[in-house]
Amino acid sequence: MAKAKIFVARAVFPEIVEYLAQHFEVQSNQSDQVLNKDQLAQHLADKDGAFTTGSDRIDGELLAACPRLKICANMAVGFNNFDLDAMTARGVLATNTPDVLTETTADFGFALMMATARRMTESEHYLRAGKWTKWSYDMFAGSDVHGATLGILGMGRIGQGIARRGAHGFGMKVIYHNRSRLDAATEAECKAHYVSKEELLKTADHLVLVLPYSASSHHAIGAAEIGLMKPTATLVNIARGGIVDDAALAQALREGRIAAAGLDVFEGEPKVHPDLLTVPNVVLTPHIASASVPTRLAMARLAADNLVEFFSKGKALTPLNPQALAKH
Ligand code: DGY
Repeated sequence: MAKAKIFVARAVFPEIVEYLAQHFEVQSNQSDQVLNKDQLAQHLADKDGAFTTGSDRIDGELLAACPRLKICANMAVGFNNFDLDAMTARGVLATNTPDVLTETTADFGFALMMATARRMTESEHYLRAGKWTKWSYDMFAGSDVHGATLGILGMGRIGQGIARRGAHGFGMKVIYHNRSRLDAATEAECKAHYVSKEELLKTADHLVLVLPYSASSHHAIGAAEIGLMKPTATLVNIARGGIVDDAALAQALREGRIAAAGLDVFEGEPKVHPDLLTVPNVVLTPHIASASVPTRLAMARLAADNLVEFFSKGKALTPLNPQALAKH
């Protein structure tokens, strides 16, 4: 039987491409050219499956041009690059990479919160610029993390990982808000208390955003929400760009309405709102929360295994829309 044809939309570990090549006829974008919508559609027009990343948009228009496509395996836990309804309607299975990145991403969220609270980027820039000539009592004095109130908006697996780190490692009081409340055992394990969004905003010393992006979470944090936060509070976004109104945040940081922010994701990334590049009290990183070598390898392997499982057994390990299979 002819091998299924797969397109790997972005560069990925060579050993993963080799692994895929053992099972499929593989075309891979190892030069890592970022493909526009038309180029992606051209590559996928004669393919049975796609290995995608969060920057590859799969929607109804693209699917209409790619009639053979049966599965898109995203190398990411987030899947806001997929129009799931359109994929399901066409019987195209979508998969993501949950679990394998949870602890690595929680590590990063916690690190970004600490760097933000303790002004690490701002002070490093000062030092590198040769401005450090003497000790002073309040030089880059920030806020404490230990014993502070950690607020988490979006309490899925990664949010819970951050809660456990804060509660058990740093003696933080943990409060959270989520679409649905966690069961009592998980709340107890995370030492987390459910509160309204308003109370979360008003009470947290350090607020970390870990909710998925959707039309309903667009600008979940804007000027009004920031206005409820303590002037000493910090805000960290490791979720998705678009959840925070970046222009409103930059203005709030400039005006000192909150103390500082740590951002790993941005509206319209890889572009960054120019005002965020000029305010000092923000730590900026280029969407790397899951980027440890073992975790990125595990994500790539899981995405590849979803393709292998699908073409060999007609199902997937981590499907997002299993109902698409009924259309086959
Ligand atoms: C994810 O897995 O969703 C991360 O944001 C990496 O893209």
